[in-house]
Amino acid sequence: MNIRKIGVIGAGIMGSGIAQVAAQAGFKVILRDINQDLVDHGLAKIRNNLEKDKSKGKRTEEGIKSILNNLEGTVNISDLTSCHYAIEAAVEKISIKKEIFRELDKACGPETFFATNTSGLSVTEIAGVTGRPHKFIGMHFFNPVPVMKLVELVKGAKTDANTVKTTTTLIKDFGKEAIFVEEAPLFAVNRILVPMLNEAMFVLMEGIASAEDIDKGMHLGANHPIGPLALSDMVGLDTLLFVMDTLYEETRDSKYRPCPLLRKMVRAGNLGKKTGQGFYNYS
Ligand code: 3HC
Repeated sequence: MNIRKIGVIGAGIMGSGIAQVAAQAGFKVILRDINQDLVDHGLAKIRNNLEKDKSKGKRTEEGIKSILNNLEGTVNISDLTSCHYAIEAAVEKISIKKEIFRELDKACGPETFFATNTSGLSVTEIAGVTGRPHKFIGMHFFNPVPVMKLVELVKGAKTDANTVKTTTTLIKDFGKEAIFVEEAPLFAVNRILVPMLNEAMFVLMEGIASAEDIDKGMHLGANHPIGPLALSDMVGLDTLLFVMDTLYEETRDSKYRPCPLLRKMVRAGNLGKKTGQGFYNYS
């Protein structure tokens, strides 16, 4: 099938990034979230990113117009009926993802491909609520989506070869590089990265070093572009807690227990950049 129209479900950090990348690549995109404020916020974030590019001389006003012209927002899942490909990027809760795909499965024609941008939940389990598990795949982007080149492609138990082929082409059209990983808790990159972020929180909690020095240490000592605590704030502490909880529950290995400081911060609503307070203050 010739993919021209893409539905993106979830207008948060990841969903708006995916919508931007798809619209930039010339696809028609419908961005859906559960209320108009969330949709407007996602579209505003994209506009803001494009304006920043323009101020650096990387885009023209015309170029921005044509990208925005490819984008449409909605709160109705039924508006995704005519999409050739639907990419879900809602919160990292399996019950919510399943509910979205139950609705999508009813709304979209049988030709539509489905992908979940999960950070590490079971693709097979989510695909199982649809009548098209063969047309379902894990498509894991990295934050910030417009910048990070990688997408992990994760086959569910029933994903067929045509879905893998179509999705690989789509990722290339988005200007990204794919790696192929087997279904496993947290796949490959997060399995390595997120326990490191969690460990940085233990180092902070145990009073071994300050947040600033932990981040400076990993930036200057390991050449990471930003330190683990600043990165955690960027990804969102709620997402990281979901991800660590999944890894721990799936493996029951105590080395993956979420840091108590992470849980405490999430309970306090200090989720990082998106709430203005995480390990650092962004107000
Ligand atoms: N959206 C769009 N573009 C962004 C952006 C955003 N949110 N944040 C930064 N950028 C762009 C900037 O505009 C800039 O573009 P330019 O090169 O054209 O000027 C470029 O990225 C570099 O940004 P800055 O100069 O402001 O700052 P840095 O040099 O520190 O780069 C960074 C920012 C690219 C975010 C860099 O710090 C980095 O690579 N950090 C690590 C990111 C990472 O590890 N991501 C993976 C997270 S894990 C994940 O997503 C998985 C999930 O499942 C949990």
